[in-house]
Amino acid sequence: MKYITFANGDKMPMLGLGTWKSSPGEVYQAVLWALEAGYRHIDCAAVYQNEKEVGDALAKAFSDGLVKREDVFVTSKLWNNAHEEQVVEVGLDKTLADLRLDYLDLYLIHWPVSLKSDVMFPKGGDDYLTYDQVPLAATWRGMEKIKEKGKARHIGVSNFNIAKLEEILQTADVIPEMNQIELQPYLPQDRLVDYCNKKGINITAYSPLGSGDRPKGRRRDDDPVLLEEPCIKEIAKSHAATAAQVLISWAIHRDTAVIPKSVSKERIIQNLAAKDVSLYESDLLKIRQISHKFRFIDGSFFTDIPGSPYKQSDLWEEE
Ligand code: A2P
Repeated sequence: MKYITFANGDKMPMLGLGTWKSSPGEVYQAVLWALEAGYRHIDCAAVYQNEKEVGDALAKAFSDGLVKREDVFVTSKLWNNAHEEQVVEVGLDKTLADLRLDYLDLYLIHWPVSLKSDVMFPKGGDDYLTYDQVPLAATWRGMEKIKEKGKARHIGVSNFNIAKLEEILQTADVIPEMNQIELQPYLPQDRLVDYCNKKGINITAYSPLGSGDRPKGRRRDDDPVLLEEPCIKEIAKSHAATAAQVLISWAIHRDTAVIPKSVSKERIIQNLAAKDVSLYESDLLKIRQISHKFRFIDGSFFTDIPGSPYKQSDLWEEE
């Protein structure tokens, strides 16, 4: 297994289990299967509404002696309705209680979008808080405080573009240690990846398999299906691997962490075995040459709500 190494020497396994879209009824077993298979990195978030069940699975794994707390890297994310500096810790405490942990390995600001405290998803302009009301720098100060208290060993962001990272860096004492973003062959985001590499910001690739189970409201009939991409399937065949394994291996070859989601025991095991799939330079070149570009998670559920103060340019690079 390859690792991301943080500045203080802490290590994060590059391959982790994603839990977005894993229903509460399925995620408990999925986490246990993953830990049994050898995963030592679980990616969570408050908004996935399944952290209690993830916590139950972790508690069972610890009490059964399957793994020790210090051997599992656990990430979670602050939801958009807890961005005010003094509220960041409240959001984290809820997640810690649900996960039944006393610290996280990594805590991320989930989106550079702020919502009022009683709103989970915005339905109208009144549901938002603006950057004037809650500057990202204030949220980041809240994150720095929880790191200082040891409640999160590392802190970072998710869905941040270069402009938003630059904004945080202007006042940050702690440089964001991670940016978790959508990365897959239809969206390689070379500019943002290069920028993060130069600044020492580690990267995690989400939706690495093309998020085929994303909610109906976030898909159109003519969206591409990444796991069916001919180039990926052809490379998979040449390695006697699956398309999913090639996609996961591609992310690891780019030195990014990657968090494929699955609730199937067979696919959880299969995805971990991707760490042993060695792609050739020629494979990487072929993947680079895939001309079709597509973002599966486009953030329109924040930007396209009437009255939203947020624009697509607040989220994404102009590619
Ligand atoms: P399932 O949970 O039933 O295994 P992403 O990580 O990009 O969000 O993609 C998750 C989707 O990919 C889910 O629908 C998941 O289904 C499916 N998936 C996960 N692993 C594999 C695999 N090895 N082969 C095919 N589909 C997979």
